[in-house]
Amino acid sequence: MFSMVVDSVLKSRWMGLSTRRFRVLPLTLLFCGAVSVVAVACSDPDRAIRERLNETDEERFMNGRRAANGCWVCHDLAGTVKKVGPSLLGVYGRRSGQAPGYNASPAMLSASIVWNDRSLALFLRNPTGFVPGNRMVSPGIENSQELADVIYYLRIVTQPGARE
Ligand code: HEC
Repeated sequence: MFSMVVDSVLKSRWMGLSTRRFRVLPLTLLFCGAVSVVAVACSDPDRAIRERLNETDEERFMNGRRAANGCWVCHDLAGTVKKVGPSLLGVYGRRSGQAPGYNASPAMLSASIVWNDRSLALFLRNPTGFVPGNRMVSPGIENSQELADVIYYLRIVTQPGARE
């Protein structure tokens, strides 16, 4: 008799729990899904850029972005100098060592290179080889495809206002 009571209580509690669970679970999933979609959409600084690109170019851009991920440890795109390297905002067309507010090395300044696709590729393939004595301590990008993708990405993302 006693065991029957316990049994039925346990059973009904369990059933109560499981039906609650069944109602709560989809709602939770829906909520989390919505939150993560919004979070991803809001947190991608390149959303506006990506919307302007076709599928092939977007893929290239994203490959370049992935490969250039390490650059942002030392550089930013905000035009500020808060990291060890100069901001890369507006780097295209500028001479080496001339980033506003940045105290570049004599080597970078006297090299007086105009940054464009070609000079950036030469520099990023072998930073110390191309500008001996400069202070950028970063291994070169040896893979040509990766280098081309990084250049493609930089050309877009370093343009002032590109992310708006
Ligand atoms: C460990 C830090 C570090 C990393 C990582 C790094 N850089 Fe640099 N970079 C620097 C420093 C420091 C300078 C300034 C060198 C000087 O003045 O001698 C510099 C200079 C440059 C310049 C020249 C800027 C100018 O105004 O003349 C470019 C372009 C550049 N880096 C691009 C990149 C890219 C692209 C990446 C990623 C592939 C990268 N850097 C990774 C530290 C870094």
